[in-house]
Amino acid sequence: MTKENIDTPALLVDAPALERNLEAMQRLADGFGLALRPHAKTHKSPALARLQIEAGARGITVAKVGEAEVMAEAGLEDILIANQVIGETKLDRLVRLAERARTAILVDGVEGVQALEQALARRGLEMEVMIEVDTGKRRCGLERLEDILDVVRAIEKARHVRLRGLETHEGHVADGARSAEDLRTRAQAAGQRLVEVAEALRDRGIEIRELSVGSTPAAPYTGAVPGLTEMRPGTYVFNDVNQMAIGQATPSDCALSVLATVMSRPAPGRAVLDAGSKSLFAERVRPGFAGEYSGFGFIREAPGAVISSLSEEHAVVDLNGEALRVGDRVKIIPNHVCPCVNLHEETYVVRGGEVVDVWPIAARGKVR
Ligand SMILES: Cc1ncc(COP(=O)(O)O)c(C=O)c1O
Repeated sequence: MTKENIDTPALLVDAPALERNLEAMQRLADGFGLALRPHAKTHKSPALARLQIEAGARGITVAKVGEAEVMAEAGLEDILIANQVIGETKLDRLVRLAERARTAILVDGVEGVQALEQALARRGLEMEVMIEVDTGKRRCGLERLEDILDVVRAIEKARHVRLRGLETHEGHVADGARSAEDLRTRAQAAGQRLVEVAEALRDRGIEIRELSVGSTPAAPYTGAVPGLTEMRPGTYVFNDVNQMAIGQATPSDCALSVLATVMSRPAPGRAVLDAGSKSLFAERVRPGFAGEYSGFGFIREAPGAVISSLSEEHAVVDLNGEALRVGDRVKIIPNHVCPCVNLHEETYVVRGGEVVDVWPIAARGKVR
């Protein structure tokens, strides 16, 4: 099968670009002396997770129990659910999962530890947890040492819960960053904060084995902080316009595109593509400092054009002098690749113009 036979809209993965990204991030982690545990929410595909492991990753990260179930079913063995797991139904699923794959979760409260303990005790299993620390994102995660110590005490009381270490997602560092230097300063401050919390706990005799950070924009920087042990970037496998906007990727580093067809040229200067918000995902580019990117994706064949609006099955393109004809096929780099991938059932893997594989996005839509 060649690219020309694929019906649109469809996801294409450029295999050589993907391989370069896998290798570059593994090399970065190795250079820092950190283990790599990539976040699989970006690709939601066991086939790609396996490539990450083959490239040297120690295990994978996921966001939801449902994603972990899909990955475990496909034979992935070492999974961190980098999230709180709350509610009896979910905890029962989690414990059943832990019988099949080495699984750990995050905790940021005493209630979470106690509920996990009860679920584990019912089946006589043990599980490791990481305490989520807020290093600036202001999402989940604890900021104050006394709150972290309360969680440590709850873990010490529990007979089936074991403390692996501390975790943070320093994803906030790219929001409003003015330069690469600014990114570096923010990322390293977040990493440093995690190390300080670990030191404060160790001073109290608490064993902290792992310190896990994770965010693609921060990845070149956070790992330089001494004392960390693991990094969990996700977006790097594919990259996207958000990564281009902070100068960390060019179009040739973006391994995933949405293939679309020009289905109408209804007025001068306007083209309409058959990929709307249900295949591209309607999200604006995060403001960056490396080039102006507006609209809802970057059209490789018409870089001056702007996708000015999306409806569910239409992308309206202001051509700005670019030439596109009805029937032309274009490849669009999504602004934010992770939610875009989640909209699709499979991705076509392309090498030298030929489709060499089709990977199911097996964990798509797994929000529970
Ligand atoms: C907990 C956690 N770790 C790691 C990541 C990876 O971040 P990125 O996709 O920027 O690499 C995310 C992304 O949302 C996350 O929520």
